[in-house]
Amino acid sequence: MSTKIYLHQVDSTSDYLRLHRDEHGDFSFVYADEQTSGHGRLGRTWLTHPKENLTFSFIIKDPKKLALGARITLLVSYAVAKEIESYGLRPEIKWPNDIYLRGQKAVGILLEGSLPDYVIVGIGINVNQHTFEGEYRTSPTSIALELEENVNLDVFREQVFDALEASFLEVEPSYQEALSYFKEHDYLCSKSVLLEGVGPYKVLGIDEDFKILLEDSNGNIIHNASGELTILRD
Ligand code: BTN
Repeated sequence: MSTKIYLHQVDSTSDYLRLHRDEHGDFSFVYADEQTSGHGRLGRTWLTHPKENLTFSFIIKDPKKLALGARITLLVSYAVAKEIESYGLRPEIKWPNDIYLRGQKAVGILLEGSLPDYVIVGIGINVNQHTFEGEYRTSPTSIALELEENVNLDVFREQVFDALEASFLEVEPSYQEALSYFKEHDYLCSKSVLLEGVGPYKVLGIDEDFKILLEDSNGNIIHNASGELTILRD
């Protein structure tokens, strides 16, 4: 059965869900006021002020949803970005799994798991945090900073959970909508990038499988599934 578990404090909502995965059904959520050991991609730490942001994870077990593979990330980004947009902001999705507001990172998404059994989707959304201490690779922002006012965290959380559930109800039609949405909200499109330090490549967009399309200086196009991109210039 799908459940929503609230924790005051936890090391990481994703780690908690992985440890307790047998106790919870498809699309169960775990959210926490505070993470003491939140992590991001490539082993980076995910730091947020307690009670100011959304830090949560949900588990996917349904084989139909799992069959989406890497395309899960796009459906998740689409649901979260649309919800942020409903607050009057203009989110942009940075392939593969960040959401930016005015060129600064507001959302990080991390997929972990063991296909074909389960995937745990961990999401950190900067909601009401106004100051960011420490070192960040990409400068952070929050919904409140962009709106110049705080939002009701409880209401926002339920809206995001509902949007995620709705996106995964009918995966194929939702995925087509997500592809169209991405084209209009593509942070990297036309930018010049390095892939794992190699390049430069011009970003052309994404393909149907959510691979990024990169054009090299000879006009060759590659469909790339993973790897770290560094932006050279806009
Ligand atoms: C990234 O941008 O590198 C991804 C960040 C993902 C952070 C979220 S917060 C909830 C969940 N628990 C974690 O420990 N990480 C994810």
